[in-house]
Amino acid sequence: MTRLAVNLPKLSRFINRSIVLFTLLFAGLGYYVSSGWYIGAGIFGFFVLINVYLIYIQKDTAVLRNFGLFGQMRYILMSVGPELRQYLYASDTEEKPFNRAEREEVYQKAQGKDSTSSFGSLDNFDSNELKIRHSFYAIDKEKVKPFKVTFGEERGIKNTYTITKPVIISAMSFGALGEHAVRALSRGAKRAGIPMNTGEGGFPKYHLMEGADLIWQMGTAKFGARNDDGSLNEANLRKIASEKNVKMIEIKFSQGAKPGKGGLLPAEKITEEIALLRHVPMGKDVVSPPHHKECVDAPSTVRFIGRVQKIVAKPVGIKFCLGSDKEFRELVREMKKQNTFPDYISLDGAQGGTGAAPKSYMDDIGVPLFPALHSVQNILVEEGVRNKLKLLSAGKLINPGKQMIALSLGADACYTARGFMLALGCIQALQCNRNTCPVGITTHKKELQHGLDIEDKAQRVANYVASLDHEFYELLASTGKKSGTELSVDNLYIPDGYPMDIKAHS
Ligand SMILES: Cc1cc2nc3c(=O)[nH]c(=O)nc-3n(C[C@H](O)[C@H](O)[C@H](O)COP(=O)(O)O)c2cc1C
Repeated sequence: MTRLAVNLPKLSRFINRSIVLFTLLFAGLGYYVSSGWYIGAGIFGFFVLINVYLIYIQKDTAVLRNFGLFGQMRYILMSVGPELRQYLYASDTEEKPFNRAEREEVYQKAQGKDSTSSFGSLDNFDSNELKIRHSFYAIDKEKVKPFKVTFGEERGIKNTYTITKPVIISAMSFGALGEHAVRALSRGAKRAGIPMNTGEGGFPKYHLMEGADLIWQMGTAKFGARNDDGSLNEANLRKIASEKNVKMIEIKFSQGAKPGKGGLLPAEKITEEIALLRHVPMGKDVVSPPHHKECVDAPSTVRFIGRVQKIVAKPVGIKFCLGSDKEFRELVREMKKQNTFPDYISLDGAQGGTGAAPKSYMDDIGVPLFPALHSVQNILVEEGVRNKLKLLSAGKLINPGKQMIALSLGADACYTARGFMLALGCIQALQCNRNTCPVGITTHKKELQHGLDIEDKAQRVANYVASLDHEFYELLASTGKKSGTELSVDNLYIPDGYPMDIKAHS
């Protein structure tokens, strides 16, 4: 019995030879029957020429040298592979970084639709997942105290800043995001009553346009507040901080997706607008160093935080991804020594997102959020300074359950970046670094941004926040607690074999 199977080398030889035969056949028909057949000969002849180039001339790609045009099928299929997997093959719980079930929850919330599910959870209950412990004596959600976190109160400054919802839009710069996305987020944040972090893109022109409260971020390149040598330009910082909508300043030391990594803004990407907003010269590469020029050890880092606090007279936080517990403890001890504390720490887990980073940095560097949060909280408690600052956290905290776990591990509130990208309609095409985002979020191409209607998506942002806020109160009531500050690790179920040693906070 003949077994049918596809022999790809034979099939490709057959196709490539057929192309030659068709060229000859059409040429013959053109000569003997009618000159119209020459069109076909021309088309197939063109394919023959491509095959000659692919098989005999180019040397880059072995597959194309061996299979010619037929080999191109591999690259065509690879290029649409993510879409095919997403739409046809991947199950609801399979994809990364966010599976379809997780994305769908955000889409439903953002569209103001019912985001309940039926029949049962799609999670594995045998896995190493933290869960929230509810109380036998759950309370009515109306009894939960209104959420309120005030930054800067520990230092007794005049310009404190208060948030009243447990979630904030995490840093994403104009540059990583296009104008429409920034404006939709800003308009949505204003409507929802939450602040938005500007990311490290320099002067927040588009963020300011829509009137949201802003947390202005200064990365290691200090875009918008840099001298030519990369040091701090105090006058520019003072000017940005004096904007009415800028409520807090965040000094970024590192981010979860690429901790310890600097960056390069190539001269070609520096348009007139970018040069103006970031205060960088045109026609020259700009280096984003792995650390602030002023910060080379714990004493200089704490001095720098204090210097920025003096300049801006508003709450000043620091953002980082945890590397070493020991280094962090030394930093905290130095804060005690200088009696200088940031108004908040924003802790980014290694699973954080980015506009662009090397894969090795995204995959293999930095401590993931939950163990990092537990360490940072414990160190702050052990050093007796937990009451000196607020603690924010980020790292795939896109739904209320994960946010409640972060609060139980010590966070005061949560940041999310990709949660808000999904609310804007992100389809996880994984093209943020290519300027080709199919839904117009991480692109500057006008024709792609056309798809992102600012007003429609601003409402989705507001709906998403409203739903997260609503479920925050519901979940908290189920734990029997009246306030997020009452949560602790005692509110977590930690399964045997959970890969981190969680002890009660002393
Ligand atoms: C498109 C994009 C751009 C980002 N840009 C910045 C940035 O400018 N500065 C920064 O500190 N973090 C940046 N981040 C990281 C986020 O602010 C956040 O810390 C991280 O993605 C974790 O949150 P998430 O898991 O909710 O996305 C960016 C993330 C994304 C996805």
